[in-house]
Amino acid sequence: MNYMGGKKMKLTGEQQKKVESILSQMTLEEKIGQMNQESPSIVGGFDVPFSELIEMLTDGRLAQEEFERLMSTAKQDFHEEEIRAGLVGSVMGNDPRKANELQKIAVEETRLGIPLIIGFDVIHGLRSVFPIAIAEAGSFDDALFEETARMVAKESRAHGISWNFAPMIDVARDSRWGRVSEGPGEDTFLGSRFARAKIRGLQGDTSDTGNYVAACTKHYICYGACEGGRDYNTTSMSTSQLYNVYLPTFRAAMEEGAATVMAAFNDLNGVPCTVNEYLLRDVLKKELGLDGFVVSDANAIKECVIHGIAADDADAGVQAAIAGMDMDMGTHIYKDHLKAAVESGKVSMEVIDEAVRRILSVKVWLGLFEHPYVPEEVIEAYEKGIPAEHAALARKAAEESIVLLKNDGAVLPLDKSRRISLVGTLADSADEVTGAWAMGWKKEDCVTILDGFKNAGANVSYYPCGGPEGNLNEEELAAACKDGDVIVAIVGETTAMSGEASSKADITLPGRQREMLAKLIASGKPVVTVFMNGRPLALGWEAEHLPVMVEAWHLGIQMGNAVASVLYGEVAPSAKLSSSFPYVNGQCPLYYNHPSTGRPAGKSKFTSKYLDAPAEALFPFGYGLSYTTFAYSDLRVEEKKDCLEISVKIANTGERAGVEAAQLYMQDVTASLVRPVKELKGYKRVALEAGEEKEVSFVLAKKDMGFYDNAGNYRLEDGLFRICAGANSRDLLEEEITVRF
Ligand code: GLC
Repeated sequence: MNYMGGKKMKLTGEQQKKVESILSQMTLEEKIGQMNQESPSIVGGFDVPFSELIEMLTDGRLAQEEFERLMSTAKQDFHEEEIRAGLVGSVMGNDPRKANELQKIAVEETRLGIPLIIGFDVIHGLRSVFPIAIAEAGSFDDALFEETARMVAKESRAHGISWNFAPMIDVARDSRWGRVSEGPGEDTFLGSRFARAKIRGLQGDTSDTGNYVAACTKHYICYGACEGGRDYNTTSMSTSQLYNVYLPTFRAAMEEGAATVMAAFNDLNGVPCTVNEYLLRDVLKKELGLDGFVVSDANAIKECVIHGIAADDADAGVQAAIAGMDMDMGTHIYKDHLKAAVESGKVSMEVIDEAVRRILSVKVWLGLFEHPYVPEEVIEAYEKGIPAEHAALARKAAEESIVLLKNDGAVLPLDKSRRISLVGTLADSADEVTGAWAMGWKKEDCVTILDGFKNAGANVSYYPCGGPEGNLNEEELAAACKDGDVIVAIVGETTAMSGEASSKADITLPGRQREMLAKLIASGKPVVTVFMNGRPLALGWEAEHLPVMVEAWHLGIQMGNAVASVLYGEVAPSAKLSSSFPYVNGQCPLYYNHPSTGRPAGKSKFTSKYLDAPAEALFPFGYGLSYTTFAYSDLRVEEKKDCLEISVKIANTGERAGVEAAQLYMQDVTASLVRPVKELKGYKRVALEAGEEKEVSFVLAKKDMGFYDNAGNYRLEDGLFRICAGANSRDLLEEEITVRF
């Protein structure tokens, strides 16, 4: 029996007996019911079919506000009747009272009283929203990753959610893809450490059912490698690429005991992940050891017909079940077709029993049988507001996620005595601070950048002027340039410009923001530019013309306070980039850990480069400045039996204290497959007072210096290695060493 073998998901003997006892009593219909997830269906309240309403919203015939008004009054079907009949194993939602209502039907009105597992997308916060993942990953702070995840688990349970469709751990190298905002960036090592910390935070404290949820690592797999950066698009790669770049974050999550996995929409090498038995059974369940269950992405089983791999819904359902897809998200295909498939012999009862056993095991592990409801006092507490410590953590996470990209002209930190002209519509919009995939927050909890400046006691005047939507108000611009001693320009993307189904072919600043910046610069006043965006942007022009550039991403509900505290120097910027920024669009996909090629980009014409753009990143992975400066020296590498012991000195050579995320990289110089010119293998945040020097040490286990070949075998090959340490993936000290394994 394939039980919870992960670190955090072991079932006790009693719990295993409970699972088997329930399973043995279930009818085929009840078993299939556990494999079926329902979402509330919109069934009325307006005079057109819901699908038509979505079309109208998409093509602009219906405004967002009107759509939301309609939704707030729409009649919804929560599938109470199917739940009562034992035909639903899971629902989606974040309303605690509705959760209790539906749970009561499942627990008290069905034959076996199996509770629902209630899932929701809580990617970077529910009520207390912290930075989007690509930003938080740039803190290089594992403790923070875990702390915010633990907060999410508590807020989720308080809203009836025991299953988070998170963390999203897709490595993403193409910033045209809108979902780069949702994951930990371009690097496998940082992504794996992020994944581990998030699983620990979400699942790690089983002391009471209010403190942990089942994680759902997604999207399995290679979703971030979608061709052209276009969402849902096809992916294809070698086994070595799959195993060395995209699988490690999921391997790490499985080692940490992740309870569930969501399959990705895309096909990999011609087989959609949803029906890919090699990926789901051979790799994920057998090799990586998932003991929980796999859920499809929304509607993905049905889409296998459109992929062209299934003849019809029934065929898609059969293929998915046989491939190891345990739960169907939202298509009803399992509910409508699996019974006939079992009775006809197309799908064995063993397949059904395995899926249901996995689902029941997670429900038992979550304690749902003993504690299926949210206590009323918990619900009422959140109706009064969010816990102060959650808002404080959201602010700390936001402050630690801000990257200083350029700082010429000694205008930062700002001086409170100087009048500030705050420019840009993004500066005063609560809707834009939370970023993509944040649902369930309340406007009153959001601190805009304008709010943040006011809270900091700044002498600030606000001038909307223009923003991502394309407007530009010349009068406001002229006033901003005239009135302020210093201009702080807030530019970037709206939340809707990143996230799912938000790929962009042009990742320069949208609208007339570049024109707005040019006019501000022309004023001759000092200009500080703060970027609010969900993806790396092509900032070649900006880097040439702007003296100060601060990358602030979408930082969550405390964004305004965090930006103000960093710009006024209460907190020094310490984050680094988790993804490379290009000069121009055409450089995408762009990432630091690329192979050398036989003709690496150089001065000679006949090398791997562009005629019309640089080959390297404008701002590389791991890059970020502080209000002070750091100097690295004395890199030492010593071979021990099972590891390399590495040390490097870091001195704070500036006038202010700071925190530096020191990074360790490695290159396997000659191997049986070409290897990246460098790979991140370690990082540490180091706090240094002005003038202070510390020695930072790393241990690189020899077992971690290998790679997978095209047969999926892990190889450790003796030979020459370059070991590097420094401030980012470009500015590094380097030592060579020949290693014997
Ligand atoms: C979406 C997303 C997935 C999310 C799911 C449920 O399409 O791809 O990340 O968890 O549907 O909302």
